Amino acid sequence: VKILFATAEATPFIATGGLGEVAGSLTKSLTEMYEDDTDIRIILPLYKGITDRTNFEFVASAKIPLSWRQQYCGIFKTTVNHVTYYFLDNEYYFKRDDCYGHFDDGERFAFFSKAVLYVLSIIDFMPDVIHVNDWQTALIPVYLKSKYSTYPGYDKIKSIITIHNIEYQGIYDLKIVEDVFDLYNSEISIVEYNGSVNLLKGAIESSDIVSTVSKSYSEEIFDDYFAHGLAPILKRNSTKVKGILNGIDTTFYNPETDKSLFKNYNINNLKNKYNNKTNLQRMVGLPQNVDIPVVSIISRLVKHKGMDLVTSGIEEILREKVQFIILGKGDRSYELYFKSLQERYHDKVAARIDFSSDMARKIYAGSDFLLMPSISEPCGIAQMIASRYGTVPIVRETGGLKDSIHDCSLGSGNGFTFYEQTPEKLIDTIKRALEVYKNKDDWTKLIYSVMTEDFSWNHSAKEYHNMYINLTDK
Ligand code: GLC
Repeated sequence: VKILFATAEATPFIATGGLGEVAGSLTKSLTEMYEDDTDIRIILPLYKGITDRTNFEFVASAKIPLSWRQQYCGIFKTTVNHVTYYFLDNEYYFKRDDCYGHFDDGERFAFFSKAVLYVLSIIDFMPDVIHVNDWQTALIPVYLKSKYSTYPGYDKIKSIITIHNIEYQGIYDLKIVEDVFDLYNSEISIVEYNGSVNLLKGAIESSDIVSTVSKSYSEEIFDDYFAHGLAPILKRNSTKVKGILNGIDTTFYNPETDKSLFKNYNINNLKNKYNNKTNLQRMVGLPQNVDIPVVSIISRLVKHKGMDLVTSGIEEILREKVQFIILGKGDRSYELYFKSLQERYHDKVAARIDFSSDMARKIYAGSDFLLMPSISEPCGIAQMIASRYGTVPIVRETGGLKDSIHDCSLGSGNGFTFYEQTPEKLIDTIKRALEVYKNKDDWTKLIYSVMTEDFSWNHSAKEYHNMYINLTDK
């Protein structure tokens, strides 16, 4: 089966969040596991931020029609981990500092989506399935089912949209549906929703399968509290909806080999984990003491990550013997809050309003707990990385957090969980976690079950593979 994985980002080249990590690591695992019958290739924009182009090969160039425009498109390719990556180049659209957040994002990704379909014959790769991700590539299945439905070769291509977060839908003024999105007459109704253009809605209607990144989230999004307006559309497409939990690249995230760590370790050598802990404490300016439990937050500082629960509950927890390390950027109000908290509790709180993968990995390794009290969480990757580094997740039971972390009070758990969205519940749960930390035997047992949990792609890549095979058998 031949699959083209179209995405706005992919590791190891560019990742602003979970989507990039999933794109890179899922395709890598599928290639390793199913080399005999699966050829999965990635296609993404050639952003300015993709700087290492040493092994890039120029394939060809094309002129892409987008409404009245004819836009240049350079095609490059390279191979990493046996996976072929294609990059579509247009400096006007992609030679910019950030991947997203520009006034013309709609046009930029309409161009990309149109170009992906246009270049298939040039790269000589006619896939059986095009697997698209989130709103940026949502126009691909729309174009496939409208403009391309009668093109020889294209008429057989199946499509899958994976929703990594339904909150971001690609909503634009209906006035630009022809000029920017290149859709006319009967095509317009595919993307039209509530008087606007809604690209994700278009993809849900046009794709053969709609998948999300955990089973629980695939159920939650039928409820408008989670669906951000799209519940009615999902309901009428409900037979297409599936949930497959993400995995992580356990070779990349490996405390035994990770070069970012102060000292490498594994489950039989946890002493070295505590070396990471004291080095981390020193680095962020907290008192160096292995006995003080360190709770960390590595997250975008936004509402749906549960930051209101944290800001209302944290001072109560700071009365305990505990240290907090916060890493992330986001809404100004939370950034300022954590900065001021650090000033008031300088021997207990370290706030880094910033993000770097290197720092994140030092924190995963050097902490005892990772706190993720998300209000909604399609999958969440941090809880899995933390587990791999022997850091115990404390999570709210939603989406992928609910599917990956189970409370240890129920026997064979691998973390601490709570459901009610109240500061009291958050406080209770953290206090419960701190009690277990005090009991050396219980704590060691817990670390053991956390670190041995298999969050690799082994299981989920198999589910994706089945999905591709079933879809193309039809
Ligand atoms: C989005 C979601 C996150 C998920 C990631 C990868 O960033 O918010 O929960 O883990 O996509 O699928």
